[in-house]
Amino acid sequence: MTEEILKISGGRPLHGEISVQGAKNSALPLMAAALLCEGETVLTNVPQLSDVYAACRILNRLGCRSTAEGNTIRIVRESAELYEIPDEDMRAMRSSIMFLGPILGSMKRCTLTMPGGCELGPRPINLHLDAMRAMGVRIREGAGRIFCTAEKLTGAKIHLPIPSVGVTENVLMAGVYAEGETVLTNAACEPEITDLANFLNQCGAEIRGAGTHTVVIRGGRKLRGTEYRVMPDRIAAMSYLCAGAAAGGEICLKDTAPDDMKSCLDVLEQAGCRIGVCGDRIFLDRTGPLRSISYIRTMPYPGFPTDAQALISAVLCTASGTSMLEETIFENRFKHMGELARMGADIRVSGRTAVITGVPKLHGASVTAMDLRGGAALAAAAAGAEGITYLSGLHHLDRGYEHFAETFNSLGILTERGTFSALEHTFSAANAKKC
Ligand code: EPZ
Repeated sequence: MTEEILKISGGRPLHGEISVQGAKNSALPLMAAALLCEGETVLTNVPQLSDVYAACRILNRLGCRSTAEGNTIRIVRESAELYEIPDEDMRAMRSSIMFLGPILGSMKRCTLTMPGGCELGPRPINLHLDAMRAMGVRIREGAGRIFCTAEKLTGAKIHLPIPSVGVTENVLMAGVYAEGETVLTNAACEPEITDLANFLNQCGAEIRGAGTHTVVIRGGRKLRGTEYRVMPDRIAAMSYLCAGAAAGGEICLKDTAPDDMKSCLDVLEQAGCRIGVCGDRIFLDRTGPLRSISYIRTMPYPGFPTDAQALISAVLCTASGTSMLEETIFENRFKHMGELARMGADIRVSGRTAVITGVPKLHGASVTAMDLRGGAALAAAAAGAEGITYLSGLHHLDRGYEHFAETFNSLGILTERGTFSALEHTFSAANAKKC
């Protein structure tokens, strides 16, 4: 079967206004948390993504009836006997591990396998399992499967060695049904954690301190489903802002949460963009030259997010001067740099550090997305590149971006999704090299 490809015609300043999707990294834990609730949970502003549909499949295998109607997901837990996540589901979505907490919270047992790795480096789950052990879960591994059982969950004092987003989410979801109080320290502070805590509290839980490094969960209260609107996707917003920064012009994003994006907006201003914020709208104006940024280090929230590292690298490729990026969260998150080099970027990678020396312009090429945010970065670079870029590996983009091609066209980036003949995009890439 011929693969679908994005054909992006770049090199012109952007003009346009878009609405930003709901957050993938909030919708997924919220869907898992619905396992803890009696009655119906209705989530709105849910982005239409392959990861969301993978989460629906897992919920249905766990005895729920989940239905997607546009950007609304309805979830009813019909039976409470199932507690196993099949291997193909664990592998389909790296973040399937976030079902561990709610399954243990509601069933006191869970059987799963290791989630897929290699996209950003190994995706270990040792900290997830350590946290569950601290709450009284016995864990045995055998034949590639992990067997978790507990008579009951007991509230505990848990200190995380690293502020893991997923582990923080699993502890919140398991803690609501643990006996007594759980105190989590060095917790992750990402806005998605706060969104999850707000949802659980609206369902009847008692969680304090979400969004700070110390979260207290009082267990033992029955949760009932509710209707809840997923927060805006701060990384999708940054993706489109970086397309605007790379191509130049003036764009407006609405349905955003600017307060969740301070470090991202600050970096864009350092790079030479003018940023305006009004309510849920973000305005970006980039008419002057881009400026390099001597050093950017990815950090846990509120630091510069690892998910935006690839995105800003696409902007810095044509910034005058030399920029340095250090990736401190994941081991292997520079795979997009080689593809940017095919578009004419001057990048040297050594371990977790990338040095980008700005060039006047990138040129179109045939490039491949190797992971979700790397794919969005290549598309952002294509928006500013001279000529046509053919982007393959769209299954990565489809995991995290709703209506990507339509959104790019709304910003003035001529983008088509289709199965183009290999000859056509090889020919145009060869042509691009000449200019
Ligand atoms: C969440 O992943 C996000 N995914 C990621 O977004 C994001 O990059 C990451 O948080 C960091 O912000 C979702 O929310 C679905 P972590 P998560 O646990 O929870 C190590 C995207 O592009 N670690 O905070 O898996 C881990 O290897 C995705 O939208 C262990 O060593 O991230 C990493 O180096 C990519 N042992 C570090 O902690 C564990 O048991 C931070 O990971 C768990 C994690």
